[in-house]
Amino acid sequence: MRHLINITDLTCAEIDSLLDLADRMMKAPAAYRETMRGRILATLFFEPSTRTRLSFESAMLSLGGGTLGFASADSSSATKGESLTDTIRTVSAYTDVIAMRHPKEGAPLAASFKSTVPIINAGDGGHNHPTQTLTDLLTIRQEKGRLHGMTVGVCGDLKFGRTVHSLISAMSRYPDVKFVMISPQELRVPEYVLAEMRKKNIPYTETERMEDVMPSLDVLYMTRVQRERFFNEADYVRLKDTYILTEDKLQAARQDMIVMHPLPRVNEISTRVDDDPRAVYFKQVRCGRFVRMALITALVHAAEAGADTLFAQEERNEY
Ligand code: NCD
Repeated sequence: MRHLINITDLTCAEIDSLLDLADRMMKAPAAYRETMRGRILATLFFEPSTRTRLSFESAMLSLGGGTLGFASADSSSATKGESLTDTIRTVSAYTDVIAMRHPKEGAPLAASFKSTVPIINAGDGGHNHPTQTLTDLLTIRQEKGRLHGMTVGVCGDLKFGRTVHSLISAMSRYPDVKFVMISPQELRVPEYVLAEMRKKNIPYTETERMEDVMPSLDVLYMTRVQRERFFNEADYVRLKDTYILTEDKLQAARQDMIVMHPLPRVNEISTRVDDDPRAVYFKQVRCGRFVRMALITALVHAAEAGADTLFAQEERNEY
């Protein structure tokens, strides 16, 4: 049974096929209106979300399927002391695919051991967020026409920002990609992520100053300081406004650089940047819906066919 816990669970060829399918779905959504008819997606969100949960539900509804689930741990049996694995065993009896978000790192992996349907990690603590990464890859490919040969700047909370960890791990697999990490000392990329990059000889630099590196970037990926993962509020308050991208700072950037953000934005991008053609974060939101449509389709079809390769049965299903 295929699950998506970590972005590296997918081969590069599978990622390409998912992005191709998402492109086709975006161009002709009506052709996929019945693709998931009769199937049910569960969204189990033990941690709050706007975009991720709603985009999963929108994706399944756009494919003709149904959804059920909960939007916070308070409204589930977790409050009665039920274990995660018992919840998963139960929900997998009711549904065909499960998207779950959990504050504990590794919770979706633990869930996948007990589930009888595919599990999709919709964010686990400060660890990973593979479907945001698929969204980001689709956005970069649509805006820049390629995924290789990029200098990617990631800025903000690189310690707790799970979207950054998954994005680095995904983009590191494409040729000639370099990373520029922009963060305060306290919020540097975790050592385990850096060690992996060194092992693979992926070039990266670390800096505290956004201004210095701006002209070299193809992509600037901004992130929010992750308040909910701080141990004390004073540290959060001290660090939260370290980077604010303004129109002035953008002047030093290339005309074809793109500014991305997984959202929610707090203060880190001035709203005046929204009208700059380089700001693509709302286009990114739209990509999230279609890439999740592609992922749900591929995982459910593979599970139904008992296949361990996504897209092996593409011709038979004609999608
Ligand atoms: C991100 C997340 O949940 O990690 N949001 C999202 O899924 N689009 C980023 C964040 O919360 O800062």
